[in-house]
Amino acid sequence: MRVFIAGADGYLGWTLAQHLARKGHVIGGADALLRRGWVEEMGSVSAIPIVPVDERLAAFGEHFGEPLRFLELNLCDHAALCVALAEFQPDVVVHLAECPSAPYSMMDFPHADFVQRNNVSGTLSLLFAMRDHCPKAHLVKLGTMGEYGTPNLDIPEGFFEVEYRGRRDRLPFPRQAGSWYHWSKVFDSHHVDFACRLWGLRATDVMQGVVYGTWCDTDMRLNTRLDFDEAFGTALNRFCCQAVIGQPLMPYGKGTQLRGFLSLADSMQCLTLAIENPAAAGEYRVFNQLREVLSINDLAQLVRAAGQDFGLAVEIKLQNNPRVEAEAHHYRPDSQHLRALGFEPSLPIDEVVRNMIADLLPHRDRIADHAERLAPTVRWRTS
Ligand SMILES: NC(=O)c1ccc[n+]([C@@H]2O[C@H](COP(=O)([O-])OP(=O)(O)OC[C@H]3O[C@@H](n4cnc5c(N)ncnc54)[C@H](O)[C@@H]3O)[C@@H](O)[C@H]2O)c1
Repeated sequence: MRVFIAGADGYLGWTLAQHLARKGHVIGGADALLRRGWVEEMGSVSAIPIVPVDERLAAFGEHFGEPLRFLELNLCDHAALCVALAEFQPDVVVHLAECPSAPYSMMDFPHADFVQRNNVSGTLSLLFAMRDHCPKAHLVKLGTMGEYGTPNLDIPEGFFEVEYRGRRDRLPFPRQAGSWYHWSKVFDSHHVDFACRLWGLRATDVMQGVVYGTWCDTDMRLNTRLDFDEAFGTALNRFCCQAVIGQPLMPYGKGTQLRGFLSLADSMQCLTLAIENPAAAGEYRVFNQLREVLSINDLAQLVRAAGQDFGLAVEIKLQNNPRVEAEAHHYRPDSQHLRALGFEPSLPIDEVVRNMIADLLPHRDRIADHAERLAPTVRWRTS
C-alpha cells in the first residue's frame, strides 16, 4: 500500500515509517519538525539521541531500499498539502501530526490557542485535501483515550446504544476531556465523523492509550525520540528516565488514577492492523487502542522492580497533583475491535520496562543534565 504519514518525524511516526517499510509498504510523509522545537522550548532534549531529518532520510533509504518521500510541510498550509497528496496518491493517510501534550496546552492562552489551532485546523485542512485529491484513501487518525475522560460507566468504542424517553439511538459516547489538548482531539473526532457522512470519506479514529517504549537500532540514525520533560514525556517513559538518574519517581496526587497503556511495539502492530483492514467508503469507525489498564502507582512499582534488576535504588515520592482530575474512579474501556482484527499483545510490560532501562542507561548523563525539567511546574488551576 502507499501510506502517507503526517507527523513522520515524531515518536510514533518515525517508528511507524520503518515498521511499515519493513512490511513492504511504500511510505510518503510530511512533518513541520515542530516537536523538535517544542521540546527545546521546554529546555529539554530527547533522552535517546536522534539525528536531523535529512540524516534520518538517508538512513531510511539505505536500510529499506525505497526512499521515504518526505516533505517538510505544515498541515495548516492547505495549498502545499493538496499538492503533496495529489502527487503521492496514497491508499492510506495516517494522521499523527498534532501537538500531543496536555501540559503544553495548559501553560497559558497562547499555548492553548496554538494547540487548538494547530490540531483542529490541521485536521480540517487534511480532510478537505483528502476530499479533493484522494477521496478513496483511508484516513487513520490518532485520537486519544483521554477524549472520553473518566466517566462512571464502561467506555465503548466510540458509540453506544442509548434509550431516552422511550426512543433508542446509536450515538457518539460523550467526551469529557481534561485539557485544552484533549478537547482539540474531541473536536477533531467530530470533524472526521462529519466528513465521512458529508463526503463519503472512510476513516478509523484511534482512541489510543498512553504509549511507552524505546525504539533503538544498531544504526542510531533510525532511533526514535523519547522525551522526559514534564510536557512531552509520558508517565512511564518519564519514570524510566528518573530511575536511571536516581531521581525519585513522581506520581501525581495519590497515583491511583487509572489509564489505558500500550507499548510502542503494540501500537505499531495495532496501527498496521487498522491500515491493512480499511474502513468502508463513508464509514467512520472508532478503535480503542490499549493493551492494559493500570494505575500510575502500578507503573511506578513496575519501574522500581525493573530498576532493581539493574542495581538501581528507585524511590517513589507522590507529588501534589498539578492537574484537575479524578484520582479514585471507575475505568473499564472496551478494546475488542483490534483484537477481532488479530491484535496479539507482544512483550509483557515488565519486560518492555527492563528493555527501556537498558536502552536509557547509556544516556543517563544527558538526562541528568536536564533533570530539573522532569518536575511538574504547569498547573491546571492557577489559584
Ligand atoms: N505518544 C502517545 O502516548 C500518544 C497517546 C495517544 C495519542 N497520541 C497521538 O498520536 C499522535 C502522534 O503522537 P507522538 O507521541 O508521535 O507525538 P509527536 O509530537 O512525537 O509526533 C507528532 C509529529 O507531528 C508533527 N506536527 C505537529 N503538528 C504538525 C503540523 N501542523 N504540520 C505538520 N507536522 C506537524 C510534529 O513535528 C511531530 O514530529 C498525536 O496525534 C498524539 O495526540 C499519542
